[in-house]
Amino acid sequence: MNPLLARLQPYPFERLRQLFAGVTPNPALRPISLGIGEPKHPTPPFIKQALSQALETPGSDLTAYPPTTGTPALREAFAGWLRRRYGLAVDADSQVLPVNGSREALFAFAQTVIDPTRQPVVVCPNPFYQIYEGAALLAGAQPWYAPSDPARNFAVDWASVPDAVWARTQLLYVCSPGNPTGAVMPLDEWRKLFELSDRHGFVIASDECYSEIYFRDEAPLGGMEAAARLGRSDFRRLVSFTSLSKRSNVPGLRSGFVAGDAQLLKAFALYRTYHGSAMAPPVQAASVLAWGDEAHVVDNRAQYRRKFAEVTPVLSDVLDVRLPDAGFYLWAGVPRGDDTGFARELLAQYNVTVLPGSFLARESGGRNPGAGRVRMALVAETAECLEAAQRIVQFVQKNFA
Ligand SMILES: Cc1ncc(COP(=O)(O)O)c(C=O)c1O
Repeated sequence: MNPLLARLQPYPFERLRQLFAGVTPNPALRPISLGIGEPKHPTPPFIKQALSQALETPGSDLTAYPPTTGTPALREAFAGWLRRRYGLAVDADSQVLPVNGSREALFAFAQTVIDPTRQPVVVCPNPFYQIYEGAALLAGAQPWYAPSDPARNFAVDWASVPDAVWARTQLLYVCSPGNPTGAVMPLDEWRKLFELSDRHGFVIASDECYSEIYFRDEAPLGGMEAAARLGRSDFRRLVSFTSLSKRSNVPGLRSGFVAGDAQLLKAFALYRTYHGSAMAPPVQAASVLAWGDEAHVVDNRAQYRRKFAEVTPVLSDVLDVRLPDAGFYLWAGVPRGDDTGFARELLAQYNVTVLPGSFLARESGGRNPGAGRVRMALVAETAECLEAAQRIVQFVQKNFA
């Protein structure tokens, strides 16, 4: 067996299962889960129709192996979206690549760029999307966790990473908008990271799968957009990861793309050819249409905005929580700071599931920066989220008054 497998941590939902073992959720109330970050708004009908039509259309049906690099139409769709969304001029031949959702790509990318013979370090935010850590460990690298700072709207404290660590860093994961914090990284922070990347030669993987769900007037800054603004239009050592899952409510479609540094993407395409991760032809065809349409994305964003506008004030009466920059999570501080106890008792008394923040972070420097917070995914319909919020208010008033 690969000994590195033994270094993987239990996934947060496995830890949640263990935490809830022996708890009887209040049977008088129907269960409501704010635990899993899975989009639940309906898939736009035109995407489903495109998928079924593609099955009947020669060229996009199931009769041929798809190219790993995607059809020209798909690559043009990525480049067109990057142009419209970020004003970027991207070469569809060399600077984009389809992926089967950003999760597999974030994992596979580490396997492509890490040289395990040089004591590699992978730097990631803390708390963080758990794939970064597993990708680093299985690539033979040591993860380094940079804490997010509640005093600065949960900005990641990259300055806390020692120079000796940067010197060994081969890959840095950025997550903006962040999961679970929703924080968007501003241009000045990008400038600092690009300087560090130039000095130490590491690659930046920019996870941007929540980029289209935001609550401020301005759309979140993308990593490649930041690079272009700073005169780095070759996107050197930078690859961004983008997905239809949240943008278009198609988590089951498994469709996303990566874009950026052409040299890195060439190596990634080689890796993916051997790994066998081409996108199914009907998925490619439906994705072309999905990336080409913004009306459904505007509507989706409006649904989240209405929902967050209703739910957040209810919860902020009793929890330390406010509207995030973006994403679909509330990242709330709980009374007395016991996130696991809060989650367990909330399930027992009010049949609502939330995810303890400490499960999404690692202890570093003697503290777990997720401790004392819970993540609530507002993915269900507004009425259900509101009911959960009202139950949480009662729970806090009853237990922590
Ligand atoms: C931060 C982050 N990145 C990437 C993903 C993966 O999404 P997908 O593989 O559906 O694109 C998720 C999914 O929840 C996520 O939260």
